[in-house]
Amino acid sequence: MSAIGSGAGRTRQERTLGGLVTGQLLRLCQVSGLGRSDAETYAHVLTDALGAAAERPLDLPPPSRSFLSDDSTPVEFSLSFTPDTPPTVRVLLEPGCGAGGLGENGRTGLRVIRSMARRWGFATDQLDVLEDLFLPPDPQGPLALWIALELFPGGVPRAKVYLNPAAAGATRAAETVREALDRLGHRHAFDALPPADGYPFFALDLGDWAEPRVKIYATHHGLPATAAGGLCRMESGPDSETLQEFLRTVGGFDDGTGHPGARSKERFDRRPVLSCHSFRRTTGGPTGFTLHVPVRDYARDDSEALGRARAVLDRHGVDTAALLDRSLAAVTSRQPQDGAGLIAYVALAHEQGRPPRVTAYISSEAYEVRPPTAPLSSRGVPAAGRR
Ligand code: TRP
Repeated sequence: MSAIGSGAGRTRQERTLGGLVTGQLLRLCQVSGLGRSDAETYAHVLTDALGAAAERPLDLPPPSRSFLSDDSTPVEFSLSFTPDTPPTVRVLLEPGCGAGGLGENGRTGLRVIRSMARRWGFATDQLDVLEDLFLPPDPQGPLALWIALELFPGGVPRAKVYLNPAAAGATRAAETVREALDRLGHRHAFDALPPADGYPFFALDLGDWAEPRVKIYATHHGLPATAAGGLCRMESGPDSETLQEFLRTVGGFDDGTGHPGARSKERFDRRPVLSCHSFRRTTGGPTGFTLHVPVRDYARDDSEALGRARAVLDRHGVDTAALLDRSLAAVTSRQPQDGAGLIAYVALAHEQGRPPRVTAYISSEAYEVRPPTAPLSSRGVPAAGRR
């Protein structure tokens, strides 16, 4: 890892965490066509949500170890693309990143989401009924509460809250998800979900959503690309060819040789793929299905990751793919081939009644850039360990 927090090449304003991430946000908003005054409003929202951590000079280490990003920056951006509309900018953040422990981290998160609710006049009752499940006094796990904001014209974002099903212990995660769904009135939702190795996040839409969703994220270790279709439980969802093709493209399994023997290697044996099922109604099955692929662990560098993201965008009829290149330039002056992880995930989302959406998650890299990875074929895996 190369440390870049020293401020080399950064302007004075960009030498604090808040200064850097708000600069990145303003430039991303510009790329996506959001007006300057909305962008400035959102930049303030972001600094407010980070609290004292925003003032922290970047030559100090990250405020805490954060699972939110690989280098512990408590902020991650994403751009969500659908055909024929400008991409939406989103920002994921950990309001409690400056807290001394996970309990305080979660309490800070709650305070911040409740103050957003007061400011924009939305209800938090769905969250309130789950508080004891996900935010016990002494929580465990890699996170307590994250907030994501979708930035639309008008200066009022749509909020999403991410909670940790393993808060009462990893072995109780499934039970916690089931209980949470039950409390929200989704009585049979848990039984509709596919088998999984874990449940990293439970998410709620809060705010001015036409149809707020509850979302359950699941981990799938060692997933073969061919198994993608079998995970989807959404009614009239994507067909398995579409999902397989997405996984093969983002995983880099299309080596162009058409060699059938290569198929057995087409599994995600590094960082796992996540699936996400969403529910808009308390009756019926899931109304949405998303696959999240951690492209950063399957590509040599970000120029390769970018090429794959662009291929997916092209495939799904998004003609603004060039905006993704510009978005990377909006967050960093480094070249895509000089590191891996700027594009953290590429996701393909299907929701009933809407066109498919492709989302690229973009790291802030406030603290570190991961060097390019050695090619998959020369990673020194002992021969016996190869599949
Ligand atoms: N950093 C974590 C991970 O890589 C959590 C996370 C951040 C994440 N952004 C994400 C997970 C986007 C899925 C999609 O898993």
